[in-house]
Order: sequence, then structure tokens, then C-alpha cells
Amino acid sequence: MSTLITNIGELVTNAALDDDPGRGPGPFAALAGAALVVEDGQIAWTGPAGQAPAADEAVDCGGRAVLPGFVDSHAHLVFAGERSAEFAARMAGTPYQAGGIRSTVAATRAAPDEVLRANLARLAREMVAQGTTTLECKSGYGLTVPDEARSVALAAEVTPEVTFLGAHVVPPEYQGDRAGYLDLVCGPMLKACAPHARWVDVFCERGAFDADEAAAVLAAGRAAGLLPRVHANQLGPGPGVQVAVAAGAASADHCTYLSDADVDALAASGAGSGTPGSGGPGSGGPWSGTVATLLPGVEFSTRQPYPDARRLLAAGVTVALATDCNPGSCFTSSMPLGVALAVREMRMTTQEAVWAATAGGARALRRTDVGHLAVGARADLTLLDAPSHTYLAYRPGVPLVRAVWRAGQREF
Ligand code: NIG
Ligand code: FE
Repeated sequence: MSTLITNIGELVTNAALDDDPGRGPGPFAALAGAALVVEDGQIAWTGPAGQAPAADEAVDCGGRAVLPGFVDSHAHLVFAGERSAEFAARMAGTPYQAGGIRSTVAATRAAPDEVLRANLARLAREMVAQGTTTLECKSGYGLTVPDEARSVALAAEVTPEVTFLGAHVVPPEYQGDRAGYLDLVCGPMLKACAPHARWVDVFCERGAFDADEAAAVLAAGRAAGLLPRVHANQLGPGPGVQVAVAAGAASADHCTYLSDADVDALAASGAGSGTPGSGGPGSGGPWSGTVATLLPGVEFSTRQPYPDARRLLAAGVTVALATDCNPGSCFTSSMPLGVALAVREMRMTTQEAVWAATAGGARALRRTDVGHLAVGARADLTLLDAPSHTYLAYRPGVPLVRAVWRAGQREF
């Protein structure tokens, strides 16, 4: 069964120069007046609409834009309760603090599996309806062995990109015994969670975990077969980015407060691997550096300064955009909002922002099959009710996603 999707006003492909899908996404690239063919859940052909081959069925896009589905590489969707009162207090002047996480921990521990599963499914559906076809999902609101284990197991029901975040904060019952909590995280909790997870994460920040603690968590995760990623430099300057790069993390997330040395370390991490995010020729092999994943919805929702995307891009760092959807620092599931904020508030170009929200997210998850539409890529497509990707920033807040396909199946 093949499907021709035609009369595409703008087809964003991010296709690698040599069209080798094994290399993953290339630089931003788009075709006008395009068509594509989907077969067996993959992209089988892209090119000018007038040259498209025949297919079993056809979809006419009416001149609208088609993008690779968004890759949201950072989200916390397994939780119960909400924190709208904390948000309202913050808008009235109370600063955001990592400690707010503990109120969600209490609500999550008290919730039956069915409540967590329903909340997770609702948020995952919300994401698909906004064009997201790959999502990462973290634990981190359980912080006991059984509550973390059920969190990663539930996350695995909606995505293969599951992250064990037992090292989110030290829970109240371990306040006087940080070492004891770290032993739990690196021992029995990791053992219970690793079978359901691909990634290990740690919140390396004042009020959460320091550099040595974070490095120990990542090393234990690696030994259990998990790949590292880090919450780094969100609330102030700190060691998170250096810990991430030293651990070979796929991504350092937030990157709001960076030193020159942090930017240099991120830039050097990717040298010689993959195709740089800012363009340029490929250098062989899939991406293996540390991506800077920016989460502008957090700064929007906490009134912090936005990360300096231009500084990162100028240094040659690969930049991704993600939502960080969570009940505390940023309760949005919208990648289009992230793109609009990145363009308006962080001075990314519309092309850079869309690349970061698709191909950048794929790099942050070390995925070569998503984030681009080269032949052989997974047929994850977002059809906009607009003629070009620019409209995501030009028409902020407007529901522009008209249809979504994941692996060739219509999901919205
Ligand atoms: O990414 N930074 C740590 N974790 C979340 C916030 C979680 C919360 O406040 O509940 C974040 O911002
Ligand atoms: Fe987060």
C-alpha cells in the first residue's frame, strides 16, 4: 500500500546531502511545489509534484506546508495533580524553586496507576494534535523504588524514549541522608527501572544534585545500559553542562546560564561527528556530540531570561528545542509555541527553530530515522494549515496543525 501526498506548497525535508537516511537529518532543507510517497511507514520518494510516481491512494495538501513531525526530546508526563496555584503565585512575584517538585511527588505517590496512565495518555494525545510524532518521557515524580518503576513502565506504554530521573530531587524522607538516597537511586531503583528505560537523567542544579552526585548517577546508569542526558544550568551557572559533556551525554537540557567554557565544551563535543546543525558538509557517521536542548517554554512560564541561542549557534553547537512539559516550571505540550518563542524571544531564524524542533530533537535522542524526510526515514509528517513553516512563528497561538501521520498512519 503506497500513498502519494501531493500539492505540498512547502515540504521541509532536512534531508542529508547524500540522502543516506542512516546518517540521520541533514541541514534545514525545503522543496516548493513538492510531493512525497509513503510506503511501509517510510518515505519512499520526495520531489517535484509534477514528477511524482503513481501510488495506491493520494492526499491533496492544497498548497499547504508539510514538515517532519516534531521531536519533543524533553517532557515529564508521568505525574498526578497540578500546580496552578504555584504558577499564579509566581506570576505575582514568588520565584520558581526546584522544591516545588516535591508537591507533585506527593500527589504522584498517592495516585493509582489508572490516574497516572490517563493523565499521560491525555498529554501524549495533546502532543500529537500539535504535530509531535516522537516524544521523550521522564520519571522523577515517584522517587521510591516502586513509584519510579511504575513511572518508567507507564512511560514505556506511550514511547520508546523513556528516561529514568530518580535523581530529580532528594525526597523529603531522605532530607538528612543524601548519600542514602543516592545509594538507592544508583542501586535498587536503577535496577528496577533500567529494563523499561533507554536514558538516565539527573537534575544537576543548586537545590538538586551537585557535580559529583550527578556524575555518579550517570555512571551507574551507563553501567546498567542507559545513555546519559542532563538537566543543566537552568536556574543559575553551574557544573551541569560540563558533567554532561564529560559523560558523553546526548543532550544538556535548559542551558540558560552558560559560561564561555560551557559553550566551548558543547561545541567541541560534536566535532567530527554527523552533520553540524548549522549546515555544512557531513563528516561521517551519526551524530555523537552533546546537543544543547533549549526549553523556552520554561523561561516563558518562570519569567527567567531566555537562553542565548545565537551564542550557541555562532559557536557551532547543535541546538534542539523541546517543551519540558511538566506541572511546575512549564505546563505546555506545544512544540509550535516553542518554535514561536525561539524565533520571537531567542532570535533564532524560522528555519533554525523548525530544524531544532525536528532534526535537533532527533540528534538529542540519537535517532537517525526521525526529524527529517529523506528516503528511508520514518513517515512522520505534520501538515500545517498554512503555506510555509514560517507561519508557526508568524501566527503564534493559532492551532495550525491540520493532520499528523506517524510511520505513515494518520494519527490526527
Ligand atoms: O525541567 N528542572 C527540573 N525539572 C523540571 C521541573 C519540574 C517541576 O517543577 O515539577 C524542569 O524544569
Ligand atoms: Fe525537565
